[in-house]
Amino acid sequence: MTGAPFAVMRLSGADATDFRELRLDGLRRHPEAFGASYEEEVRQTLDDSRRRLENGIVFGARRNNLPPLDGIAGLFIPEGIKTRHKGVLWGMYVRPEARDLGLGSALLARVIEHAGGVVEELTLAVEASNDQALSLYRRAGFEEYGLEERALKVADRYYGEILMRLMLVS
Ligand SMILES: CC(C)(COP(=O)(O)OP(=O)(O)OC[C@H]1O[C@@H](n2cnc3c(N)ncnc32)[C@H](O)[C@@H]1OP(=O)(O)O)[C@@H](O)C(=O)NCCC(=O)NCCS
Repeated sequence: MTGAPFAVMRLSGADATDFRELRLDGLRRHPEAFGASYEEEVRQTLDDSRRRLENGIVFGARRNNLPPLDGIAGLFIPEGIKTRHKGVLWGMYVRPEARDLGLGSALLARVIEHAGGVVEELTLAVEASNDQALSLYRRAGFEEYGLEERALKVADRYYGEILMRLMLVS
């Protein structure tokens, strides 16, 4: 750890360019870590990213509070009457040169804090061999409740996902 300061903030439409760059970087470098694919998202426009930030809940982190963005994490809240009590963490990504500084933990803490006000539990899916992410989620209190084998297929190879949840109300 370098002790470098960083800031976590809710992203708005004005962050669309930075968000798109970092999101695509993550999808390209780690195809097995995300349900979404680089090939599909690269076709989306900047306006799509802007709408995603304006209509959704996405947080970003910056080292020294200066551009560019170094980390992102999203919170999806279903609209359905029967499922809107469960939020889903998506798109957790920290660019390689900004890792191990605590940005991932800080982004996760911010998502959990926000989720605590609007949903009863938070769920996520993490690729089964992603030890760094698993350790991050376990440290924050997430517990495993299942394993989906062959959850993702990337270039003819299958990846299992561990399903985790954090109860926000007792
Ligand atoms: C998983 C990921 C988001 C973690 O981001 P990060 O910013 O490196 O996370 P943190 O810095 O908070 O924690 C990472 C490690 O640094 C350590 N660390 C965190 N804060 C620290 C601090 N203040 N001092 C010392 N060490 C610290 C943690 O203990 C952790 O170590 P461990 O996992 O070996 O136990 C990042 O590796 C990543 O983007 N990976 C690729 C995409 C991905 O897998 N996303 C998850 C999809 S489910």
